[in-house]
Amino acid sequence: MNEFIQQLHSHRSIRKFSDKEISQSDLELILSAAASASSSGNMQSFSVVVTRDRAMKERMYQAHFEQSMLMDAPIFLTFCADFYRMRRWLTLSEAANNFDNYMSFMIASIDAILASQNAALAAESLGMGLCYMGTTLASAGEIGEILELPENVVPVVGFALGHPDEAPDLRKRLPLESLIHYEKYHKYSDEEVLEIYREREVEGMKRYRDNPRLHQMIKDVGAKNLAQVYTQAKYTEESHLKYSEDLIAYLKRQNFF
Ligand SMILES: Cc1cc2nc3c(=O)[nH]c(=O)nc-3n(C[C@H](O)[C@H](O)[C@H](O)COP(=O)(O)O)c2cc1C
Repeated sequence: MNEFIQQLHSHRSIRKFSDKEISQSDLELILSAAASASSSGNMQSFSVVVTRDRAMKERMYQAHFEQSMLMDAPIFLTFCADFYRMRRWLTLSEAANNFDNYMSFMIASIDAILASQNAALAAESLGMGLCYMGTTLASAGEIGEILELPENVVPVVGFALGHPDEAPDLRKRLPLESLIHYEKYHKYSDEEVLEIYREREVEGMKRYRDNPRLHQMIKDVGAKNLAQVYTQAKYTEESHLKYSEDLIAYLKRQNFF
């Protein structure tokens, strides 16, 4: 293993940060690494919004379901799918004003996500830590208003960034062979599926039972196993239907659908 691959294997999300600030030069290194990612047609159809201001962070904190790492971190980065800039350029250049459709949203989202992971890896290589926050997509409309995003700009992923003040254990991944298919998709037997999730089931439930707040939560929803925790507590059908409806409505408002 070279150093870079070792770094990839030692990733863990950081949710507690020290008071140490991030210098502008380190921030710019991270952001230029983001901009070096592959990008569809080299259009770089993404933007990054840097949140440092305390009052702005407080507004973002509400939209991010009050997850404490946002206030704890010196910086929050929001990666947005962005065809606003390109579409203005098209108009000013008397070119057809394309890219106001769902396919373009997907293309721009992929650009934004690739850029975000480049930024994440660059930050980790500088000794920083981060935690992605899925609430970026769940609250895309609200965050879009706070950040004053124009049409054809939608927040897709974001993470809290800073210097770690904790060293959590590495979290295991599903067995590699269960994720990889050679040549054609191998459709799992039921036995294989249960085997793939066997260790996750034991460790996942232990993690929930060891934390008093999470233990109470699984008791409240009556979850008997990890799969039930996922669908009765964390990612319920109602919540995901609502997020889906909200997101589709926002994509329409932002001229992508
Ligand atoms: C798109 C995305 C959204 C996430 N959203 C949250 C979140 O809202 N809150 C949180 O605490 N962790 C969040 N995470 C972090 C994951 O929980 C974490 O990556 C996963 O449990 C694996 O742990 P590790 O990153 O420490 O290896 C998110 C990760 C990703 C990739």
